[in-house]
Amino acid sequence: MVEADLLAVGLFEGEELPAELAEARGATDAKGGFKKTALLHPDSPARALVVGLGKREDLDAERLRVAAALVAKEAERIGAAAIAWAVPEGEDREALAAALVVGSVLAGYRFDRFREPEDEPPTRLESLALIGPAELEGAASGALVVAEAQNRARELQDLPANFATPTHLARRAEEIAAAQGSVSVEAMGREEIAAKEMGGLVAVSRGSAEEPRLIVLRYSGGGTGAPLGLVGKGVTFDTGGISLKPSAAMHEMKMDMSGAAAVIEAVGAIAALELPIDVIAVVPATENMPSGTAIKPGDVITQYNGKTVEVNNTDAEGRLILADALAYCAELGAGRIVDVATLTGAVIVALGSTYAAVVSNDDALAGAVVDAGEATGELAWRLPLHPEYKELTKGTVADLSNAAAKRKAGTIYAGSFLEEFVGDTPWAHLDIAGTAWDVGRPYTGKGASGYGVRLLVEVTRRLSQA
Ligand code: BES
Ligand code: MN
Ligand code: ZN
Repeated sequence: MVEADLLAVGLFEGEELPAELAEARGATDAKGGFKKTALLHPDSPARALVVGLGKREDLDAERLRVAAALVAKEAERIGAAAIAWAVPEGEDREALAAALVVGSVLAGYRFDRFREPEDEPPTRLESLALIGPAELEGAASGALVVAEAQNRARELQDLPANFATPTHLARRAEEIAAAQGSVSVEAMGREEIAAKEMGGLVAVSRGSAEEPRLIVLRYSGGGTGAPLGLVGKGVTFDTGGISLKPSAAMHEMKMDMSGAAAVIEAVGAIAALELPIDVIAVVPATENMPSGTAIKPGDVITQYNGKTVEVNNTDAEGRLILADALAYCAELGAGRIVDVATLTGAVIVALGSTYAAVVSNDDALAGAVVDAGEATGELAWRLPLHPEYKELTKGTVADLSNAAAKRKAGTIYAGSFLEEFVGDTPWAHLDIAGTAWDVGRPYTGKGASGYGVRLLVEVTRRLSQA
């Protein structure tokens, strides 16, 4: 028998508890309705938590992520630090085992580094054992790697902008490279970025005293084809610049580097999992500040690929730094590129925190992203490209404008703008402004969600097998 403070058992609706638990004190309270919990006190093991899983035929990985989170919270409440989870039977049991690990680990995330330690520190999950066939071990340990990477991405999201600077992101990438022999990193500073004529990153970082960074992570997994490109928006604070944002919710713009966090930590997980593929990750990192040196509405800049852009709204900064990063990533030889960015408020209006938006020039890659989203629970929904949207992005005095006067199709506009910088490379853009923060699922809660780490690792896994 597994040593644990708490045994967790799922119960399907309309079914009976296993015989060992049927006589336990509290057993009559156990219900199979999804998310219903009941604490049992059988003699051995000491305590058991029964969590309703709903109808057997409705069981999927998402239900188990939720069930695992409910168990983890209850365990914290009753002071149980070691959980043993009986993996329910189901079609894809590896996915179910992985879901239990992900739900438990993500539910345990706390951001408390700036708080005085409490007299009686709260119970934290110390061990999680799965009860099931030994063949589930690989799926479970892989899921642990990814879930812990996701919690590190959440830490970066939560870290305030005076700590999580572009330099800090570069340092985190260097830590990953130091820990993984298969990963190397390079981080350019202001002068090198200017020398490379990355006009978007130069323009956005001009208003800030904080040094920008162009971070390039390379993972060599012994892949056979062209490397996969990953690009993440790393705006460590977005004030809007001279097109200043309202102050009410501005503090949340410390999370405008969520795409960067997802990409950096995903590379760490991909390397730890030794996926057989090569990856080039490019992270443009900067603050977006108003100042005497900041870009002004109407300024014209030249992007890395030579296209000119009139910056009609300095708050549409993400697309300017991503444009350079995408063109650079393609030039470095990426065969396919996935970018991740908290790019538009419009995506929150369209899809809330349930789905990220996908904009892509390639059906196969978009399909892989959407499928990986279904598998991991980090959902993504494709929005269309169309020549009429492209028309909106044309500039009046330059090739392109970074923001239209009318706010038509804001998320697609941004995606269509980015498409101008990938050439013929198959590319998929993920707008995560809604899914990176305040998702509110039981395993993510409010605040930083780490969205993208599971999805990117899964996309990479699928592409490494294709
Ligand atoms: N970082 C914001 C998008 C955002 C909004 C992220 C809310 C997370 C939560 C982005 O840089 C931005 O300001 N976008 C503008 C674009 C507009 C000026 C064309 C927006 O969506 O309002
Ligand atoms: Mn902005
Ligand atoms: Zn932004």
